[in-house]
Amino acid sequence: MATATLSESNSSAPSVGGPLLGDAEFQFMRDFVYQHCGISLGEQKRQLVQGRLLRRLRALGLRDFAAYCELLRREPEGELGELASVISTNVTSFFREMHHYDLLINELLPRWLEEKKHGGRLRIWSAGCSTGEEPYALAMVLAEALERTKSTVDARILATDLSPQALETARAGTYPLERMGGVSEARRNRWFLRGEGSYEGWACVHPRLRELVTIQPLNLLHEWPMRGPFDAIFCRNVVIYFDKPTKQRLFERYAGLVEQGGYLFLGHSESMYGLSDSFELVGRTVYRKRAS
Ligand SMILES: C[S@@+](CC[C@H](N)C(=O)[O-])C[C@H]1O[C@@H](n2cnc3c(N)ncnc32)[C@H](O)[C@@H]1O
Repeated sequence: MATATLSESNSSAPSVGGPLLGDAEFQFMRDFVYQHCGISLGEQKRQLVQGRLLRRLRALGLRDFAAYCELLRREPEGELGELASVISTNVTSFFREMHHYDLLINELLPRWLEEKKHGGRLRIWSAGCSTGEEPYALAMVLAEALERTKSTVDARILATDLSPQALETARAGTYPLERMGGVSEARRNRWFLRGEGSYEGWACVHPRLRELVTIQPLNLLHEWPMRGPFDAIFCRNVVIYFDKPTKQRLFERYAGLVEQGGYLFLGHSESMYGLSDSFELVGRTVYRKRAS
């Protein structure tokens, strides 16, 4: 972690638009987010970080970025999630990258449910679940497959993220209708309860989906309490922020938790190329664990 003397920087200099993010504070934050979140923050992100953190400074009643860095020093774990939410994006949507859901619906879920029909558990992990659209979309296709096959397989989805605000939204499971563009009319009717009165324009996920999804805070760089094995891990649009060694370590840890022949799904602009021998590419950003 950087040990720059924060008070020597120019961040406390008054300016029309609020305090400036000085060299020492920015370097401190770069080291901090790399060490705690695995996120590499390029120099070109300085303006963006300054702009986005101003609101956080105001919410905390802090005068400048030096004070914010002191807070990070004092309470690294307490502020980590908030900082991560500021510098990374929580952008997500229901049925984002639909081809992954198609693979689940048409091939993987029918196969797993058949294989496990005499016992066995089906586990899917949405790692970096953001505000919950991904795990709830997974829950919809899982619930439909269970119903279709009249299966009694013990099936569950684990949803984790670093950001406390994102998890709060995920737990609430209530979304404005305009954010539900990816959900078909049939699924809206089946899996959501429409709000009325002051909740007009909002929809809340069906209790059956909540039953299937367990939401937990987890920093992917820290210890993981769960042992697996998982049939599939969805880690989409998360590692885009990580540098090469962080991705390599993460993929090896995933390999340790995925079933033999299990799957890892990455986001559209992410790849495992040159980073792991444990998985083979079997579809569009879909990887299968090799036999060892
Ligand atoms: C762009 S969202 C992706 C959401 C969803 N997976 C999707 O593809 O739509 C990225 C999420 O990764 C989370 N994230 C970033 N670094 C993380 C870390 N070290 N541990 C856990 N979650 C992290 C962020 O908080 C954010 O919610």
